[in-house]
Amino acid sequence: MIIDIISAVPELLISPFNHSILKRAKERGLLEVNVIDLRAFGIGSHKQIDDYAYGGGSGMVMMMEPLVNCLRSLQISRTYNEIIYLTPDGLTLNQKISNSLSLKNNLLLICGHYKGIDQRFRDQFVTMEISIGDYVLSGGELAAAVLVDSIGRLIPGVLNDETSALTDSFQDNLLAPPVYTRPEIFEGSKVPDILLSGHEAKIEDWRYEQSIERTKRLRPDIFKEE
Ligand code: ADE
Repeated sequence: MIIDIISAVPELLISPFNHSILKRAKERGLLEVNVIDLRAFGIGSHKQIDDYAYGGGSGMVMMMEPLVNCLRSLQISRTYNEIIYLTPDGLTLNQKISNSLSLKNNLLLICGHYKGIDQRFRDQFVTMEISIGDYVLSGGELAAAVLVDSIGRLIPGVLNDETSALTDSFQDNLLAPPVYTRPEIFEGSKVPDILLSGHEAKIEDWRYEQSIERTKRLRPDIFKEE
């Protein structure tokens, strides 16, 4: 999968994809992430990318021309399955959206700044708008990093244990069960006996029950009675 990210502050995206699981995805050739500096497509000697909002009001708006020129230059080398604008008024990201995006070949993410991007770009080029939650960030970069992380780990072959993404929280609308590691007893606090029993089937049942109990208690809004 190739994910291109258009950003006015590319420095914000240097580190997030160079560690841990996403680093491995890149090393295995399963994921390529390119950050494109929008300023390179800016207008005039000041490389302008934003301007005042028509109709007045505070805050700048990202201009059509740099965005369109940047997009067209990228489209010379690839066709995008989705052109995604990160914005607080988009669809709230969830595991289902990440699952479906992880099966695509080429994605383009666009990070907004200031008051956002010219509405005409959204109308004419953007195919999907995603928010990472009901709060406002100062730009779309951190939201893009969250989106790439949640998609990247789902790409087939990225996780070593192929089943492990399937047991994540939110797959099947259930939270993950609690997990424990050594030592068996830490300052008097003990790992549940069932996990030390060696009974695989019983352990699976226990984990499932724990998932249900946790989901009912912590996220009744996503819990669905079978
Ligand atoms: N840009 C600013 N706030 C955002 C949010 N909550 N989600 C996605 N992009 C954003």
